Amino acid sequence: MASKTLVRLPGLADVHVHLRVPGGEHKEDFFTGTAAAVAGGFTTVLAMPNTTPPLVTCEALHAVQQQAQMVALCDVHFYAGASPDHLDELPLLAQDTVGLKLYADQTYGPLRVDDLATLLSCFQQWPRTKPIAMHAEGRTIAVGIGLAAAFGRPVHFCHVSRADEIALIAQAKANGLPVTCEVTPHHLFLTEADAARLGPLGDMRPRLATQADVDALWAHLDTTVDCIATDHAPHTLAEKRGPEAPPGVPGLETALPLMLTAVAEGRLSMERLVALMAHTPRRIFGLPEQPETWVEVDLNARYTLSDANLRTKCGWTPFTGIPVQGKVHRVQLRGQIIFEDGLIVSERTRF
Ligand code: DOR
Ligand code: ZN
Ligand code: ZN
Repeated sequence: MASKTLVRLPGLADVHVHLRVPGGEHKEDFFTGTAAAVAGGFTTVLAMPNTTPPLVTCEALHAVQQQAQMVALCDVHFYAGASPDHLDELPLLAQDTVGLKLYADQTYGPLRVDDLATLLSCFQQWPRTKPIAMHAEGRTIAVGIGLAAAFGRPVHFCHVSRADEIALIAQAKANGLPVTCEVTPHHLFLTEADAARLGPLGDMRPRLATQADVDALWAHLDTTVDCIATDHAPHTLAEKRGPEAPPGVPGLETALPLMLTAVAEGRLSMERLVALMAHTPRRIFGLPEQPETWVEVDLNARYTLSDANLRTKCGWTPFTGIPVQGKVHRVQLRGQIIFEDGLIVSERTRF
């Protein structure tokens, strides 16, 4: 076995994670989801509001924040959800969240905003200092760019996946508009050919795209793309193999190994990886510093991604069978080692 080459990176931040609390605890919960995050090198995650009920009221938000505080193994921050029924709560929700999530296209969960009046109200009421993150696909991205320009305020585009979308965002940035974007590892490492091979386990929104789309995302990774975010969206195998398979795939434990493999192959620099997975996400969402926090990775470890030993409750990955180079060895959060050699080392337990 090759000897270890250990390198310390800052604690990573994933700005797009579905932790499924409340209402989806059979898919994931704060303990299993943050265990998966830590095992994947993330010390901060931003949780999405498309839960059941959704996080569109202060009552719902404060209940989950208390729960996360008790069981989470790393820092969890929340997005507020945009819903036509609770627009009046937006200013209060803003005080305790890192951004507003706006589902402008159809996806999993109860949140969907597709009328202009609601969009306008969100942009009027949400504080200018905090980003509005949009699930927008295709020409809906042009709507988001138009709103960012009209209101002169930051808009963050989630999981950009197509060549024309990233070209449009590059154009908006070139004109000085306050837009940012993330891409997911699944849109960087899988194509529609994998979707055909994987069936429901390769289905998510946005769907996997063509090789040309994947190539375009890679071509923009050093310039237009601001963050790598997982869109960790766990569903059980039974649900995925059932009659109405929900879209979404887990990603917290596979993102860093995949991106480290790209570094080993010379497709991206380590400095850029750290910018995409730690510094820029923290800057965009104004996330607090985590002192004495780092992730130690072994750049030499070669292995094959698999469903075995995953921490996510759903217990599977669409990347199973893919060879990678680079492994999380230890994680320290605020001076405490919390993960070492494949084990969570934490004083916290489930109870
Ligand atoms: O595939 C997806 N699944 N896309 C989304 O936007 C939502 C997510 C989920 O929550 O499962
Ligand atoms: Zn989405
Ligand atoms: Zn998502």
